[in-house]
Amino acid sequence: VLNLKEQSPLKHIAVIMDGNGRWAQQRHRPRVWGHIRGAHVVSEIVEAADEAGVSALTLYAFSTENWSRPVSEVKVLFALLKKFVQRERNKIIRNQVRFRVIGDITHLPAETQKLVTQLEQDTSHHCGLKLTFAFSYGGRDEILKAFQKMALENKNDHITEEMFNQYLMTHDCGDVDLLIRTGGEMRVSNFLLWQLAYAELYFSKTQWPDFTSEEFKNILSEVSKRQRRFGFIQEGFAPKDIVRKSHEHKDYLSLETHSERF
Ligand code: FPP
Repeated sequence: VLNLKEQSPLKHIAVIMDGNGRWAQQRHRPRVWGHIRGAHVVSEIVEAADEAGVSALTLYAFSTENWSRPVSEVKVLFALLKKFVQRERNKIIRNQVRFRVIGDITHLPAETQKLVTQLEQDTSHHCGLKLTFAFSYGGRDEILKAFQKMALENKNDHITEEMFNQYLMTHDCGDVDLLIRTGGEMRVSNFLLWQLAYAELYFSKTQWPDFTSEEFKNILSEVSKRQRRFGFIQEGFAPKDIVRKSHEHKDYLSLETHSERF
């Protein structure tokens, strides 16, 4: 399928959807009320990302740390994932979205796992937006698992970053270009730690249930104007892949005049 959409320069966008609990509490409702409202915002933002020509959108829906929340809240989050898959399935397929869940979903209800796996399989060949939910996901856990697998499979090889990238759960999405966190906190919270190395960060005070496609698009246009230097001193001089191979640029890197590059 030919994709005629204009591509966003911010190819991979990651979002920490924070502030659901506070949003609900401020309205004297149980915390899960915020998650339920938040799930509808998810649909709106997926659509906006697709329209904006973003190639990968990774959303933090449930962290490994979230297991310590009350069982009733955890169950609502599971149910929302299931509902999302059921509700959006046709739209996802129609729009050629490639759906995936990263993290350990083996503790989710069997029926939810089945629905997720089925949609992953049915969309694995799609060439539109790569939509990924991080569910029961932790960044350090991902790095450890990737490293263990890589070490087993490449016992005698020289290990490179490119090789390591292939073992990450987001291996075909590339590095994150922009991380958005709603809810006012300014933390990364164990999300996509490796992939965030050169990401632009944007912290919004808006709580996730109040987040809109309009704010999302404004953030994209504001961040697109930022000068991304990837550690170098001149915009556009050194794309990420050159930086990654910086060991081949030792002469350049050893010049003292460039010492302010970091
Ligand atoms: C953080 O808010 C949010 C979460 C832990 C869950 C995010 C989940 C959704 C937006 C809905 C899931 C939807 C799908 C489709 C899977 P918080 O509860 O920590 O808020 P707080 O910081 O105000 O307490």
